[in-house]
Amino acid sequence: MTLTSIRTDGDSIEIIDQLVLPHSYVWTAVDSPNDAYDAIKSMKIRGAPAIASLAALSVSSYLSRASKSTPKPQFLASLEELQEHLDPVLEHLYKPRPTAVNLGAAITRLRRVMSAGLLQNTPVEEVVQGLISEGRAVADEDVDRNKTMARLGAEWILRSAEEKQIDVSNGVNVLTVCNTGSLATSGYGTALGIITYLHETGRLKRAYYTQSTPYHQGSRLTALELKSLAIASTMICDTMVGSLFQHYDIHAVVVGADRVARNGDTANKIGTYNAAVLAARHNIPFVVCCPVSTVDMTIADGSAIPIEHRPAIEACLVRGRVIGAPQGNPDITVTTTSQEEPAQAIVQVTPDLDLIGGGVYNPSFDVTPAELISAIVTEKGVAENPTKKATINVGEVA
Ligand code: MRU
Repeated sequence: MTLTSIRTDGDSIEIIDQLVLPHSYVWTAVDSPNDAYDAIKSMKIRGAPAIASLAALSVSSYLSRASKSTPKPQFLASLEELQEHLDPVLEHLYKPRPTAVNLGAAITRLRRVMSAGLLQNTPVEEVVQGLISEGRAVADEDVDRNKTMARLGAEWILRSAEEKQIDVSNGVNVLTVCNTGSLATSGYGTALGIITYLHETGRLKRAYYTQSTPYHQGSRLTALELKSLAIASTMICDTMVGSLFQHYDIHAVVVGADRVARNGDTANKIGTYNAAVLAARHNIPFVVCCPVSTVDMTIADGSAIPIEHRPAIEACLVRGRVIGAPQGNPDITVTTTSQEEPAQAIVQVTPDLDLIGGGVYNPSFDVTPAELISAIVTEKGVAENPTKKATINVGEVA
């Protein structure tokens, strides 16, 4: 079974609520750009490409509904009124996850359609249709490019092992961080796509993945995706990466990216940098896999990448299925999603900490310097060994 993060039917959009996965499958309607904002902010949907797809689709469906309604809303009366109405909507959608550049890139694509319409004085109906198509294209383009990246990344990993005369005839062992699969994209995934491709072509021995606390993208979402795809896999706690490298033959680390700077410095899920440092120590290739839209050519290096800090309370909690809650414990909130669904709980694992005065450090991402990255895989090709001095060439074909 392949999981999916977004489903559409005409102008209707639904997302699977990733806060309650893997124990409950709850589809939630996203009826407006504001609903999309709330879903992205609360992390009901997450993963840089998936949030960009949702934001773009929400604008498409909003405009499509508006253009079919009678009477037509006033903002469709002229290009100027459309722009005046749409600008704050796009501005708002850009804000909830500041590290994920794909979200900004999707919004920029919509803005460009608007600007071109204004420049050429295109009839407002045509500009609206252009915006609707562009929003849908952002989501639709994702799957094919993921499949291309998956093949390029897998081939690179196998070639790199063979060049070092490492015997991979029984397949490769690969570690990944966070969740970069179908749930984080419009389908197939980036780094998890590489793992899936290796599995589908019979070249994967085993996938390892970190829990990726505090949101547990690994233990809740990657675990579910690998299980659904019947891929041999092992979960490790975030603190076990060094031990794994000491005791197992790991042939590559593959990760996604939320933003890559011009020199190849890469922001990804917190804990990625730890894995990169340890991979360098153990001479294990460290591979970043992301679409070209994740490369932000306006940023020279990682020091300028904005890092999102999540609310402190999120690092103090775990959520999951209740398997025997102690009766009457005030620290445990049980929320049953429906009669048939298992009860889920959000549990505080820390004492009450100083949440606003610096008692908790909770950055959602860290930056891995380019010199620790062996290859950046995009749909355009593979850039090997990006360094501090070079600008990465994502057009270079492996
Ligand atoms: O906070 P998240 O879950 O949105 O973080 C996701 C990641 O860090 C992914 O690795 C990245 O967005 C790439 S997903 C294909």
